[in-house]
Amino acid sequence: MSKQKIVTVASLAILWIGAAPCAGGQDVPALKDVFQDHFLIGGAPNRTVVTGRDPNAAAIVEKHFNTITAENDLKWQLIHPRPDRYNWEPADSFVAFGEKNRMSVIGHCLVWHAQTPRWVFQDDSGGEITRDALLARMKDHIMAVVGRYKGRIKGWDVVNEALDEDGTLRNSPWRRIIGEGSEDQKYDFIECAFRWAHEADPDAELYYNDYNLETSKAKCDGAIAIVKHFKSKGLRIDGVGIQLHGGLTHPSVEGLEYAITSLAAAGVKVMVTELDIRTQARGYRGADISRVSRANTDDPAAAAAETQKKLADKYAEIFSVLLAHKKDITRVTFWGVYDKTSWIGGSPLLFDRNGQPKEAFFAVVKAARQQ
Ligand code: G3I
Repeated sequence: MSKQKIVTVASLAILWIGAAPCAGGQDVPALKDVFQDHFLIGGAPNRTVVTGRDPNAAAIVEKHFNTITAENDLKWQLIHPRPDRYNWEPADSFVAFGEKNRMSVIGHCLVWHAQTPRWVFQDDSGGEITRDALLARMKDHIMAVVGRYKGRIKGWDVVNEALDEDGTLRNSPWRRIIGEGSEDQKYDFIECAFRWAHEADPDAELYYNDYNLETSKAKCDGAIAIVKHFKSKGLRIDGVGIQLHGGLTHPSVEGLEYAITSLAAAGVKVMVTELDIRTQARGYRGADISRVSRANTDDPAAAAAETQKKLADKYAEIFSVLLAHKKDITRVTFWGVYDKTSWIGGSPLLFDRNGQPKEAFFAVVKAARQQ
């Protein structure tokens, strides 16, 4: 065999080994295959992923996930930035990406106190809008957005983060204006949002979504109160999303089990909708980005072996609980795709800044295989 031919064969062999699904000699199975008998497993790709500008991230999503949630492009601020203007293209790209990859596409979110343009709550003179006018705006938005993706988006986070940590309703403009401060109208904005989402797409599943349900029993009980209110009036609510923005020392097993079991007992599907484990040891623990100091999201210790071991152990603990309660859980979605584009910074996901599987990835696979 000529020298040139030997070089060619050797080069091809190296390329082939490089392409094999291994990381450091370890097999890298597809998460959707590992969890296929347990629950859907997903991520939250952003616009660069679904428009082909981040092919590495897209490859992770296509290999590992069977469901996707829009990180931003279905939120009011981005899809309906002005009264007379809808920005459909990014959301269309997201839904098309999910359909091309035969994934369960999740819409996030219709009614939220954040990322909602100020004009929504203002009348033509810039003053505060009336209850009826705000309800009309909410209906128009929901009918337009849910209607556009009818039959294509499997489920919607209809109302996001309506509760305070003590389980009472957050005093958002939605609650303040539509509830008009009266106790018997306090759930009206939530009811109306769910009714109109159901009217726009009768086959879509409808979810309430919130954070810290696994760390605050009072907040979890507040979500259960919403579910019970809906059930008492015969209104459709299919599930509750536990966002599960965790950390190296939270949530506790007990808190997570309480949330899963008590929500399931209330008669709804339980989903983990925004899973990440922040590696920063300090700072605010919630999921309100306006309270996350960007200075705190840098985490010089993130890549350290000790941090990665703690991260792997926490993910293993969380997935052991999720797998133990898999009869109640229909979906687990990571919030993002890989560390480089995570909202919280540090090293919170299963894939590092270069898109490579971390120690935490293999710990999660091991937890599933020990089932
Ligand atoms: O779209 C603008 C862009 O035009 C501008 O150039 C850029 C410059 O700052 O900002 C862009 O908007 C950003 C938006 O993400 C889209 O990328 C906002 O500044 C930024 O604040 C926003 O952050 C998102 C955050 O929600 C907003 O509250 C995060 O990406 C997203 O991961 C995060 O996700 C939330 C869930 O929806 C609800 N649960 C909590 C979770 C974490 O906060």
